[in-house]
Amino acid sequence: MDGFHPLDTVFEALDIYESVSATYDPSEISLTMLSGGEGLPTDERNIAVKAAMTLRESFGVRDGVRLQIDKRIPVAGGMAGGSADAAATLVACNELWELEASRDDLLEIAAELGSDVPFALMGGLAHGIGRGERLVPINADVHHYWVMVTSREGLSTPEVFAEFDQIMGYTRVPETLVPDTLDLQRALASGNAAEIAALMANDLEVPAFSLRPNLRTLMKSVGERGVATILSGSGPTIAILCNSKGAADQLARDLMAERPGLDILRANGPVAGAHVTEVI
Ligand code: C5P
Repeated sequence: MDGFHPLDTVFEALDIYESVSATYDPSEISLTMLSGGEGLPTDERNIAVKAAMTLRESFGVRDGVRLQIDKRIPVAGGMAGGSADAAATLVACNELWELEASRDDLLEIAAELGSDVPFALMGGLAHGIGRGERLVPINADVHHYWVMVTSREGLSTPEVFAEFDQIMGYTRVPETLVPDTLDLQRALASGNAAEIAALMANDLEVPAFSLRPNLRTLMKSVGERGVATILSGSGPTIAILCNSKGAADQLARDLMAERPGLDILRANGPVAGAHVTEVI
């Protein structure tokens, strides 16, 4: 698996949005980060710039784009914000450059860019295998109400995976040891929060807590009034599943009042993946 870890996971797209604007340029690809992205690279080390470059190469065109990204998803928070930017860039440049790339074309390019980029394009709820890029949508008319507790200091995904290997004593994770998420997929499609809660688990919690010991305490203390808590991706964001919209709104308000040092976001899912919202 090229040093990547084989996953069996369920993705859910939440309504915490990044905004990417794309303006035509005859040749240059450039990026300006607006609020929230201070300090991030704006050259080809940025996955959004890489997305535009890869799309341009794949279609053999010379057009350019001026990208502007307004970030709301915390950087290195385990919520795939960078992947969302890359997915949005693919969708926007496909329109801007009139490439008429199909969804499958874009999904293929997305998989080259990062493990989570295909899901950021697809959105909704999906079962992911491989390194997370091989997806099967889970079609279900359900709504989930989440409270997200973010941390000001991010965690590096490769470091969390490396810590997992270190703790488990793996040089390579055997694919047969990857637990399957079949029951969780069924529970998610049924929409029953208690059932979902009983099956929610993230193997990256152990290494994330090992790198950031106070995260475990935080997870326990903030999650007590929700139905269940789980680390989002490779952390450090903690996701709390609630029973209803009202319960989630209330929990978010209570946490904000009681723990002013924490950054709390309310989120609902599943929602659509990257899409064009406005053409000017
Ligand atoms: O695919 P992406 O660029 O998001 O992955 C970032 C890093 O996370 C990889 O370089 C790898 O170290 C780690 N990773 C992994 N197994 C996965 C996904 C990511 O080891 N399935």
